[in-house]
Amino acid sequence: MSDITKLKKQLEQRNNDLRNCEECFHNIISRSADGIVIVGHDEIVRFVNAAAEKIFCRSAEEMQGKPADFFLGSDTKQEIALCLPNNDTRVVETCVVETEWEGESARLASLRDITDRKRVEEQLREKTAQLEELNRTLAEKVREEVDKNREKDHLLILQSRQAAMGEMIGNIAHQWRQPLTAISLLIQDLGECYVYGDFSKEYLDTTISNALHVIQHMSQTIDDFRNFFKREKEKQAFSVRQVVDRSLSFIESSLRFNTIAVEIDVDDDLLAFGYPNEFSQVLINIIGNAKEAFRERGTSEPLIRIQGCRDGKRTVVSITDNAGGIPEDVVDRIFEPYFTTRKLENGTGLGLYMSKNIIEKNMDGTLTASNVPGGACFRITI
Ligand SMILES: Nc1ncnc2c1ncn2[C@@H]1O[C@H](COP(=O)(O)OP(=O)(O)OP(=O)(O)O)[C@@H](O)[C@H]1O
Ligand SMILES: [Mg+2]
Repeated sequence: MSDITKLKKQLEQRNNDLRNCEECFHNIISRSADGIVIVGHDEIVRFVNAAAEKIFCRSAEEMQGKPADFFLGSDTKQEIALCLPNNDTRVVETCVVETEWEGESARLASLRDITDRKRVEEQLREKTAQLEELNRTLAEKVREEVDKNREKDHLLILQSRQAAMGEMIGNIAHQWRQPLTAISLLIQDLGECYVYGDFSKEYLDTTISNALHVIQHMSQTIDDFRNFFKREKEKQAFSVRQVVDRSLSFIESSLRFNTIAVEIDVDDDLLAFGYPNEFSQVLINIIGNAKEAFRERGTSEPLIRIQGCRDGKRTVVSITDNAGGIPEDVVDRIFEPYFTTRKLENGTGLGLYMSKNIIEKNMDGTLTASNVPGGACFRITI
């Protein structure tokens, strides 16, 4: 083979390679996921791939061979805003490089639609700003809420104390009814004695002594009630039995009036540690609730059973009634403040809420309620 023929063959081979390369290049840029636009130095658009058609919302035929009516940016990476035929704006990231197109030098711009990313970034920025603002005001909000809660707690305590006082005054009235009748009888008797001529110094002395005795008893009742409302400062070990007995003595008349029997099964030496007056208040609340349940349901033989025992290091006191139990649909709510189902008298719904607070917050114990056959059982562990 002559040298010329050899050279011709080589040239042909090179031309083939070049064509292949160009084809390859075409293929790559046609299928690229990024938009590709090639613009000659005369600013005429030479090539637009499918992805770029989508970005511009125009077909390649509409753009190719015509002057570029958009700014492509410089050769460094930059973000540009594209105004579309439908007046929408799109944010596009562009990168321009020098290239060769069909034998001429040209600029190749790759375009990436980052509108969605920008939108998300913007939303993220807004959310971050909101979050920062929230963080800044959070401490303040927490303080405000704590203050509000404290105020609410204070109000709750006042309301429940007022309710307890009202109930106690009712109990005092009950307790005093009998001695008042006794005194009034003594006085009437004194008058009659005088009229019928049986009056003597001894009779007067006996009557005075009897009346004083009754008055002394009435005065004791007042002292007991007053002591009950005294706040104890220190926790102390106390006899559960004594506190149970004293609590019952406060409401004895009202229990008797409602023919409610009380069975006590608490050993004399059973001790508990806490605030006896507050414990007594809890017992009275629970017994008062049982009394209301008996009244509402007209229980024929109302009975309250108070039992006490040790459970490891703890003392357990349970109060069980036979009033039929707490309806299943409210059993989870009875310890909520202001929750009441009272129909006969308006309840405040604070009794059990305060009782739970007293036992659990002040005495580190637990107060729970459950239904047992025939009634409800409240269990205090301290
Ligand atoms: N022994 C019980 N048997 C049946 N239901 C009860 C019993 N004890 C409490 N409940 C229910 O629990 C509710 C809440 O009791 P809580 O003592 O908190 O409020 P109240 O008795 O309704 O009102 P208040 O005690 O403030 O006068 C009652 O309304 C009642 O529905
Ligand atoms: Mg109550």
